[in-house]
Amino acid sequence: MRTQVAIIGSGPAGLLLSQLLSLQGIDSVILERRSRAYVEGRIRAGVLEQGSVDLLREAKVDERLNREGLVHDGFGLCFAGRTERIDMKKYAKGSVVVYGQTEITKDMIDARLAAGGKIFYEAECTEIKDFDTDNPSVTFTHDGRSQELKCDYVAGCDGYHGVARRSAPQSVLREFERVYPFGWLGVLSQTPPATEEVTYANHERGFALCSMRSLTRSRYYIQVDTDDAVGAWSDDAFWDELRRRLPDNIAEAMVTGPSIEKSIAPLRSFVAEPLRFGTLFLAGDAAHIVPPTGAKGLNLAAADVRVLSRALIARYRDNDASLLERYSEICLDRIWKAERFSWWLTTVTHRFGADAFGHRIQLSELDYMTKSEAGQTMVAENYIGLPFEAPFA
Ligand code: APR
Ligand code: PHB
Repeated sequence: MRTQVAIIGSGPAGLLLSQLLSLQGIDSVILERRSRAYVEGRIRAGVLEQGSVDLLREAKVDERLNREGLVHDGFGLCFAGRTERIDMKKYAKGSVVVYGQTEITKDMIDARLAAGGKIFYEAECTEIKDFDTDNPSVTFTHDGRSQELKCDYVAGCDGYHGVARRSAPQSVLREFERVYPFGWLGVLSQTPPATEEVTYANHERGFALCSMRSLTRSRYYIQVDTDDAVGAWSDDAFWDELRRRLPDNIAEAMVTGPSIEKSIAPLRSFVAEPLRFGTLFLAGDAAHIVPPTGAKGLNLAAADVRVLSRALIARYRDNDASLLERYSEICLDRIWKAERFSWWLTTVTHRFGADAFGHRIQLSELDYMTKSEAGQTMVAENYIGLPFEAPFA
């Protein structure tokens, strides 16, 4: 089998890349180790930067997003028993769209398959060969037999545990990591959201977050210990703990109900450098992980795909490989800024052990950030997503 671009992984990064390339007549094949149902069932964050919305529009997968997405001009920060609002419209002339990543994934799979796109599910890639040449290939197992996909380029969109980053020459690859001593316990419920806008809370007992998927579906999170078992958290225990961590007016307004989904995710920051190894490119979670505070994961993946798709299009349409050569440098600049913001928002909102001094410093920083014009501008412009430089704007 042969294609122009072999894409490993049918998460948001791989699907969006395949769709954007296909609209320019560039052929790709997606190889995904899981089943379609598994990929469509994963519950993840749901805040889209305007730049991500624009790219989904360019990819022509915005129909349901336009209908069902909730445009938010601000978000809440609770601390010391009160709630402050960061006005994104005022301070950064922008907004975000709340729309579940699970829905984006489904929309993109539908669009790819409707256009005759090739996605192999339950096709696990085991090896990437010859990516130091112009004729790389990917070995994968499908229907119980080993097959080979020859291509011009390989896009490693296979997430943190994928094969692409592991295939990179260890003498060149550098990895940077921070593991946080806690996780997020998330609950999805068919109840109206407690707050109109996404609201982050710093509380002595730990972090809490009120988010939503629609006007009738809520998504909440609380900080828990890394070794907590999800089975040890009954719905009632979750709601009680969440209420304790929120200001009274929000806790009292909250409507609770049975959880539709409940899971614990660890928090980590991670960056791999570089992102290009000959004809192999890393994009999305394969290249970087952010803690979910600030919801940058999918947005960063979309930003990589914006650059990689434009670079591949320039290569095929104009025989210009200069953007491909600069892929790593262009993406890493923005990746590190998003890493910094996600790390910062995590450090000012979470409880780090019984550090009373640290907690007072957090409250002071949040008070400063939400009163100073400069502070609000920093938070707002990072939250809506930093601008792209030409020719990627
Ligand atoms: N062969 C084939 N597929 C693989 C392999 C492999 N060896 N290893 C991993 N995969 C698949 C995974 O099953 C997964 O579906 O790659 C996909 C990677 O998708 P995501 O983990 O969603 O990563 P990405 O597309 O970069 O998404 C970035 O979306 O998924 C969220 O948390 C993520 O917010 C982040 C953003
Ligand atoms: C979510 O809605 O799942 C969500 C929102 C904001 C975050 C993280 C997750 O920072």
